[in-house]
Amino acid sequence: MSLLSHFRLPQPMTEVLYRTYERRLLHEIHEDRVPQHVGVVMDGNRRLARSLGRSPWEGHELGSRTVEALLDWAGDAGVKTLTLYAFSTENFSRPAAEVDALMEIFAVKLAELATDRRIHDRQVHVEVLGRLEMLPRPVRDAIRTAEEATAHYDRHRLNFCIAYGGRQEIIDAVRALIDKVQAGDLDPEDIDEEKLGKHLYTAGDDPDLIIRTGGESRLSNFLLYQSAYSELFFTDVFFPAFRKIDFLRIIRAYQQRARRFGK
Ligand code: IPE
Ligand code: MG
Repeated sequence: MSLLSHFRLPQPMTEVLYRTYERRLLHEIHEDRVPQHVGVVMDGNRRLARSLGRSPWEGHELGSRTVEALLDWAGDAGVKTLTLYAFSTENFSRPAAEVDALMEIFAVKLAELATDRRIHDRQVHVEVLGRLEMLPRPVRDAIRTAEEATAHYDRHRLNFCIAYGGRQEIIDAVRALIDKVQAGDLDPEDIDEEKLGKHLYTAGDDPDLIIRTGGESRLSNFLLYQSAYSELFFTDVFFPAFRKIDFLRIIRAYQQRARRFGK
């Protein structure tokens, strides 16, 4: 693993500088204004892999290690909920070998999360959001294992969006509302922003901050309804190369932006 090898300073030297910079950033972050819910569009796995002369799946594997690190960074900074965009409904149209490799990573990593000490120490409730019926059996089994092992926690929440689409999510919410209307349990007059939001997979918990790595400046069907008032940050860094200092700098910048909600 030599993602740091691009840099000119000898590695021990950069490590010391990073640690010092991390401490300074942590010091500059106001604990009482940390975004409670952070969404991340994890993009750039394959481009990072290509730049190292590696296969796309090695890029995804490296990205999955960044996910593990990110859980610690976010937890340490005081973030309560992380929602990570791992696989969209559109991603099913990628080459079958790549889709299979990703599904394998999801199955392995989700099963590992179920017994991960850090998840239990931090009391993280893990949930997977999306059209789960589109996923292969081993992934669905691993999802159930991870969700059941953490269902009793509510200190933190970790949402993985897999086979996820924001428009599909809104459609599913509309269908659920129509079912209730038809059953006579809901008056259409009572459907408002909050009620629709509660029927989304995120059940009314909107992100304060959305980060996208990999250089593109769009949401790509991620949390469409929920992002109405989210602060958006785009960084050129490819996801596997995303570091703690990148994350902390975004939190600091988030705190510097005034949040007025149109008032
Ligand atoms: C994000 O990285 C991971 C997934 C969408 C599964 P990409 O695979 O999109 O990598 P790039 O953007 O092509 O570099
Ligand atoms: Mg991409």
